[in-house]
Amino acid sequence: MTIAVANTIAETRDRVAAARTAGARIGLVPTMGALHAGHAKLIETAHAECGFVVVSVFVNPLQFGPNEDFQRYPRALPADLEISGSRGADLVFAPAVEEMYPVEQLTFAEVTKVSDNLCGAFRPGHFRGVATVVLKLLNIVQPDRAYFGEKDLQQLAVIRRMVRDLALPVSIIGVPTVRESDGLALSSRNAYLNVAERRAAPVVYRALLKMRGLCASGERDAAVVKNAAFDVIHAEPLAKVQYLELVNAEMQLVDRVDEGVYAAAAVWFGTTRLIDNIRCL
Ligand code: PAJ
Repeated sequence: MTIAVANTIAETRDRVAAARTAGARIGLVPTMGALHAGHAKLIETAHAECGFVVVSVFVNPLQFGPNEDFQRYPRALPADLEISGSRGADLVFAPAVEEMYPVEQLTFAEVTKVSDNLCGAFRPGHFRGVATVVLKLLNIVQPDRAYFGEKDLQQLAVIRRMVRDLALPVSIIGVPTVRESDGLALSSRNAYLNVAERRAAPVVYRALLKMRGLCASGERDAAVVKNAAFDVIHAEPLAKVQYLELVNAEMQLVDRVDEGVYAAAAVWFGTTRLIDNIRCL
């Protein structure tokens, strides 16, 4: 059976309304496509909890900086439809840029403070673009639940805070990170890595595990924990650290390791930037 595809907001609303009238709980899984096993896990989780699951596939220009990879970002709609359908999605919403942004977008959602550190410090406007498109997708679909990966820790924190601050009537569900067998977190951007970079990339997860291990054995000084992780990454010549931090749930940097602290890293391999994180305590 081929999965239903809607390219317009109007058709998406009609199909969701029909499902809601039939009594289904509505789930939304926002994505930028090029779906992999991480996305599949989100869809499966949504399917287990909701009677009607919408997967959105939209490479959102608002969240890319002028020198970032919007143009070369992988696009693979036929495969995305196949994966979505096989994991239990009921509808793929795949709008063109002109459908989402028919006129110049003058209205934005901005979550201050939570967006300031980590990726936010290096990608100005990125989380404003993410929050704006997610708010728009939530308004289009009006789901009961929306599913996001813990892989994008700061994104999840930004969206949770937006939903809380704006009293949006949706439950945000975080889904654990899916990894390759060598520890590399699945990402659509892994496709950019050449063979040597792909071999080097699991060093990020090894560094995060080192941090968690030190915290588990009682180390509480964030500087000590971070230095040990830098040592792990510096042993890999292809890896260039952009940031490596310990943060709390509001994405604020901490000096001491306490309950609820995460280690988060962004590391370049050639022209590819990978992010990952782990809960330390
Ligand atoms: P994208 O990178 O396509 O990711 C879509 C969703 O899949 C996000 O919630 C992300 O955290 C989750 N995801 C990605 N890799 C994962 C992995 N290895 N394990 C578990 N979940 C994973 O994130 C975006 O798109 C966009 O910013 C979006 C929210 C769609 C707004 O444009």
